[in-house]
Amino acid sequence: MICAPAINIDIAIATPRTPVLTSRLPNVGTTIFTVMSALASEKGAVNLGQGFPDFDCDPQLVNAVTTAMQQGHNQYPPMAGVPALRQAVAGKLAALYGRSYDAGSEITITAGATQAIITIILAVVHSGDEVIVLEPCYDSYLPGIELAGGTAVRVALTPGSFRPDFDKIQAAIGPKTRAIIVNSPHNPSATVWTQAEMLQLQEILAPTDVLLISDEVYEHMVFDADLGQIHHSAACFPGLSARAFIVSSFGKTYHVTGWKVGYVAAPAALTTEFRKVHQFNVFTVNTPVQHALAAYMASDRPYLDLPAFYQRKRDLFRSGLAQTRFKLLPSEGSYFQCVDYSSISELSEADFCHWLTAEIGVAAIPLSALYADAYDQRVVRFCFAKKDETLQLALQRLARL
Ligand SMILES: Cc1ncc(COP(=O)(O)O)c(C=O)c1O
Repeated sequence: MICAPAINIDIAIATPRTPVLTSRLPNVGTTIFTVMSALASEKGAVNLGQGFPDFDCDPQLVNAVTTAMQQGHNQYPPMAGVPALRQAVAGKLAALYGRSYDAGSEITITAGATQAIITIILAVVHSGDEVIVLEPCYDSYLPGIELAGGTAVRVALTPGSFRPDFDKIQAAIGPKTRAIIVNSPHNPSATVWTQAEMLQLQEILAPTDVLLISDEVYEHMVFDADLGQIHHSAACFPGLSARAFIVSSFGKTYHVTGWKVGYVAAPAALTTEFRKVHQFNVFTVNTPVQHALAAYMASDRPYLDLPAFYQRKRDLFRSGLAQTRFKLLPSEGSYFQCVDYSSISELSEADFCHWLTAEIGVAAIPLSALYADAYDQRVVRFCFAKKDETLQLALQRLARL
């Protein structure tokens, strides 16, 4: 539509006025991921900052979307998601974690994990409620809590090891605690909660009405199965699953982060409240992609083969980094590798990442960006979800260190 020019000059407003807003999120600026990606592209650096693959997904998955579109799956799907996809998710959760979720009343397809998480928070957090977050953490948690009128109670994971400190978690729980957000495998530290840690969480939460928001987007990226490492989903623990919203992301699992599709599994009573917000938040998630994912999930191979796929990349990247002065932290799961650079530089994490991008040609993420108080421990995060040649180029450049 083309606007008609103002005809009556007498009633034209001399200075059109844009109202000044009071920000709902006064402390939020551009995310560190956007900043580092922009700097990486300006400097021609290898971008190991932002967490997404630089390789393509399985062509079969793309074909499945085309097929779904050609079959006419192009209108609104049911609000909670395409039934076949919810069934496939329920089947996977039962097979892997032994918890049966009802696809009709307990599984909802979302526009990625980020939408799932903010929708959960908006559905359960009332003004004045407290939500425990374990720092460093994915950067959407705190703004979500703030938007809901809640207060984030920040508990640091143990510096150095990034293991949960249960004395601190216990001490943070009080009468106003509505929920705790746990993320395993963990971004950015790449730690994976052990069964003993999950049991301890279950024990601490048992006498409370605290909800668990379990961010499991990297559930299929746990390494060293030969050493007995597996993903311990909250779904495996009855005392946790009864109070948990379990969140996952097809984007991470199938190398399609740009598709923004995920899911939430939660007991029916929790799902009912979740869907009340979801239906006015996104209402539905795009139809052909849901049909394609449902068809693709007929095979469990893609997610069962994912740990070996990423473990090989992790090992390639770590063996190159081992030739540098970086101190390597363990990478138990996810597609991240953290390094301590204290024997290379005295710069702050943010300054080191700028320097590394501009002078060495490799972008990383400062962990301080994932703490509300910018806690600095001279540790940065690399993402190794990259083609081998991308990792090799980054390693060639990092070899100077
Ligand atoms: C821990 C964590 N949770 C959630 C997300 C968001 O996932 P999605 O892209 O499906 O919104 C990410 C993405 O980086 C993440 O690292």
